Amino acid sequence: MNKSYSVGISGTGSCLPERELTNFDIEKMVDTTDEWIRTRTGICSRRVADDQTATSDLSTKAALKALEDANLKPEDIDLIIVATVTPDMAFPSTACIVQKNLGALKAAAFDIEAACSGFLYALTIGEQFIKNGVYKNALIIGAETLTKILDWEDRNTCVLFGDGAGAVVIERTEEGYGILSSYLGADGGNGEALIQPAGGSRIPASLNSVENKLHYVKMDGSEVFKFAVRVMAKAAMEAINRGGLNIEDVDFLIPHQANIRIIEAASKRLNIPMEKIYVNLDKYGNMSAASVPVALDEAVKKGLIKKDDMVVLVAFGGGLTWGSTLLKWSK
Ligand code: UT7
Repeated sequence: MNKSYSVGISGTGSCLPERELTNFDIEKMVDTTDEWIRTRTGICSRRVADDQTATSDLSTKAALKALEDANLKPEDIDLIIVATVTPDMAFPSTACIVQKNLGALKAAAFDIEAACSGFLYALTIGEQFIKNGVYKNALIIGAETLTKILDWEDRNTCVLFGDGAGAVVIERTEEGYGILSSYLGADGGNGEALIQPAGGSRIPASLNSVENKLHYVKMDGSEVFKFAVRVMAKAAMEAINRGGLNIEDVDFLIPHQANIRIIEAASKRLNIPMEKIYVNLDKYGNMSAASVPVALDEAVKKGLIKKDDMVVLVAFGGGLTWGSTLLKWSK
């Protein structure tokens, strides 16, 4: 049998656009209030990329920080995967643009799309290449400029999302450390609950598609809410059990940052205290594929995650999709 290597995260980085848009700013744009947004979601503010900034720009900056943290140079990187639903364009992939920006000349590069679960899908894909010895390392990025595909007249969606990018470097690590288990899932049958209808081959861009606002995010919020509460706890437990652990063994949980009520419900279902769960959605809103890697970077940089800690990453989102990863922190 071929050798199987342990795979760990050796560096993290993130990049948030400078411009902040608070709930009070949004009060002036649509019929909403800071009080409604805060109590229903926990969100107070979000970051918004300017007209000149695309997803690859945020990705490149996050990647450079993760590379520095891992003590690697762009030319050392074997593979770049970008998870995003807001690529710079349909093609070339955002990962190829990042490869060019970094000068990561030997890296293979591609995008994957699993909406808010995208980073965990990308992490699990990248892990396989290193585990089986094909590559020594990979740069895994979750990045979004969601504010560019929001209908700023639709209060049901525009208050929820923000822009940002998070990146990690994964490499071979000491046996028993790094990724211990992962779990990915999908329910395409309910995909209509969260959708950007136009811009693909089903409804190509046209005057009509633009006039009918079909290039914007449409969401059945309460359907996604019910799904999220159910799947978040289930997915986290699946990774924990596959790793042979119990919930009591988990030191830290990094959940997708969509709504504080979803996270609190998961905390109750899992019987894990909120003190062990990282939350930053108050500052950034829901950054889709970027939420988990940005939260992970912040938690690591704040010293909340230390060597030997058992960490669970968990996300859910459009598709519908979900994913979870259990790690023994190796740095
Ligand atoms: O990453 C995955 C993506 N998305 C999610 O995870 C989102 C999951 N869903 C949610 O977080 C919640 O369902 C929302 C925050 C979107 C909505 O919260 P809710 O408690 O489920 O509210 P609701 O949809 O039941 O709406 C309640 C009311 C409605 O008014 P009526 O019909 O009862 O008169 C909405 O029109 O709140 C109204 N509403 C608003 N009011 C003020 C919806 N958005 C707003 C708003 N400001 N921004």
